[in-house]
Amino acid sequence: MLKKKNTYVVAVVGATGAVGNEMIATLERRDFPVERLRLFASERSEGQTLVFKDKDIPVETLSAKSFRGVDIALLSAGGERSKTWAPVAVKSGCVVIDNSSQWRMDPHVPLVVSEVNPHDLKWHRGIIANPNCSTMQMVVVLKPIHDAVKIKRIVVTTFQSVSGTGKKAMDELIQQTVDLLNFRPVQKNVYPHQIAFNCIPHIDAFLENGYTKEEMKMVNETRKIMGDDSIMVTATTVRVPIFRCHSESLNIETEKKITPNEVRSVLSASPGIVVYDAPAKNIYPLAVDVAEKDEIYVGRIREDESIDQGINMWIVADNLRKGAALNAVQIAEKLIEMT
Ligand SMILES: NC(=O)c1ccc[n+]([C@@H]2O[C@H](COP(=O)([O-])OP(=O)(O)OC[C@H]3O[C@@H](n4cnc5c(N)ncnc54)[C@H](OP(=O)(O)O)[C@@H]3O)[C@@H](O)[C@H]2O)c1
Repeated sequence: MLKKKNTYVVAVVGATGAVGNEMIATLERRDFPVERLRLFASERSEGQTLVFKDKDIPVETLSAKSFRGVDIALLSAGGERSKTWAPVAVKSGCVVIDNSSQWRMDPHVPLVVSEVNPHDLKWHRGIIANPNCSTMQMVVVLKPIHDAVKIKRIVVTTFQSVSGTGKKAMDELIQQTVDLLNFRPVQKNVYPHQIAFNCIPHIDAFLENGYTKEEMKMVNETRKIMGDDSIMVTATTVRVPIFRCHSESLNIETEKKITPNEVRSVLSASPGIVVYDAPAKNIYPLAVDVAEKDEIYVGRIREDESIDQGINMWIVADNLRKGAALNAVQIAEKLIEMT
């Protein structure tokens, strides 16, 4: 359990990665009360330093003693590392906010989005899970609508940026683009197909039911975060050749009727959301505009005319910010508020 202090020793594990970098920047931007920042990555990064508040901080490798004296650990180094190191960190008396999928569906681990279910932080036993990026941005938008008119069914298609896969995927998109524009053959290392100038309907591994793990994360994590197992969710997740921001085409069916204008007013009054919706003026959320923004942008809000109580919308958020680092830091801020 976190003890009340003026400042906290914070560790970022996976500090050199896409999310880790964003975590360091987020701690700085939000002026999080950091007494000391410890940075960890693999042996490959030994000897590196990263900058926090104009100071060079060494990147360390992990050992059983790494978490001694650490109050809050932000883990972002993949599921295997989380499986090994989260219990070690908790044993050392630290609260873990984990970005991987390792603990998300564990019934003893709260899966928290700061605007949606901060109350679940009360029952944590040391580990708190940060949801999957595509689920995160969707539930922030859905929760206020669910509270107003109860959502029965969600049909979502995602258009996910390569930063969702991490640093190597961003490099691969750059390299493939350069190669193709220079009439050279592309190398494929991260994805099974060329990602430059392409869309790949395949994120994470395929399961026996024909869905991918990413798609089933959207089903299962949505229900856990919203605290409602009755919501029906079906997802198609697609990787697209952009660097930051996941876009989502969202169709919902509600129990009570809600008009597009009512959706706009419910969402405008909800934290963390910007309604950006004036199609006649070509105003709708775009990845290039939403990149490096904290809020989730919603537009193209319209009635689904094929059913009695349905709404369509288009939502865009920065997957490295609200989809990962920002929510993790917001969880830490909420924990401090609760102490
Ligand atoms: N990217 C997203 O939008 C997003 C969103 C939500 C959740 N996540 C999750 O966040 C985690 C990190 O994702 P990412 O996109 O930041 O990946 P990434 O860019 O590939 O970074 C991975 C990080 O993990 C470190 N690492 C790898 N093996 C390690 C080891 N044995 N010990 C310690 N550190 C090790 C790497 O260090 P080196 O640099 O030394 O290799 C690097 O800092 C993943 O679990 C991912 O599923 C990502």
